[in-house]
Amino acid sequence: MTILTRFVTGAVAAFAISLPAAATEYRIAVGDGAGGTQEALGNAFIAALEEQSGGEMTGKLFLNGQLGDEQDTVTAAATGTLDFSILAINNITPFSPSVGTLTLPYVILSQEDAETLTQGEIGQEMIEQTIEDAGVRIIGWAYSGFRVLTNSKKPVSTVDDLQGLVIRVPKNEIMIETYKSWGVNPTPMAWGETFAALQQKVVDGQDNPYMTVYAMKFDEVQKYITNLHYIFSIEPLIVSEALFESLSEEEQQQVLAAGEAATKASSEFLKAEEAKIREELVSRGMEITDPADGEKEFIELATTAVWPKFYDQIGGKDVLDNVLNALGREPAK
Ligand code: MLT
Repeated sequence: MTILTRFVTGAVAAFAISLPAAATEYRIAVGDGAGGTQEALGNAFIAALEEQSGGEMTGKLFLNGQLGDEQDTVTAAATGTLDFSILAINNITPFSPSVGTLTLPYVILSQEDAETLTQGEIGQEMIEQTIEDAGVRIIGWAYSGFRVLTNSKKPVSTVDDLQGLVIRVPKNEIMIETYKSWGVNPTPMAWGETFAALQQKVVDGQDNPYMTVYAMKFDEVQKYITNLHYIFSIEPLIVSEALFESLSEEEQQQVLAAGEAATKASSEFLKAEEAKIREELVSRGMEITDPADGEKEFIELATTAVWPKFYDQIGGKDVLDNVLNALGREPAK
């Protein structure tokens, strides 16, 4: 037990399984608020960890970025001052560029694609690369759905409609370049500042999955949704590699098994909840628009301009072609 942030809790009474007098409780940072896929993944992980370890290990979620902005939690976990974090993959890319392949526009076209990649060989390679690049280990994946565009000004269905809108994006080069390909110079901003910026109308809009729009109460500050499909949001659960390495082999297996169980639960959660959440947002006054012409213009502009720009960063065009091949698609042009 060399990691300073670990502490011991005696709060065992509430657990259904029989726990020892003191369980090790890990701190788990969560970027989003309650009700979204990040919280669901976190709760499923804690339940599975308790079960796997016979109650020796548990965790506590700190929602709404209480333990730091998403990108900052990667550094904190890498340096061993934080145990676990659940965050959007786009906020890991700056530390481990190869995972950027999963945020290239229009690569992942369904939940099934997201699961094929993350749970297969490609996901395993990314896990290893992320340990090397960023000092954190991905042990589970939340599936959150496509990042839809929201804004407070007007319905958007074409690239032309986007012009003039001030859109917040994460500090992620791929997403910045994607908006540029659509003729918009977006505003990169940390996740923790986004709600206030939308509320104060510093920016007009942003994109995130329905589940996140709901968990962050964006319906209070945004009116219009456009069903873009450019990124299917994947939200990994990461553990400090220093912490992981300090565990016994048995504990490591328990942590990994709990991550796997949480991933399965996340897949079911999205399937069960997304349509309900969409209806809930409509009942709260949000208006949903589909992109015109099957999104063709958005797709053409983004894939032509953005993919080649990032071949070097992701490790070469072959890396993208390998991903497309795993999804049964043709290599990039
Ligand atoms: C972002 O937009 O920075 C992230 O997608 C936020 C999130 O983790 O939900």
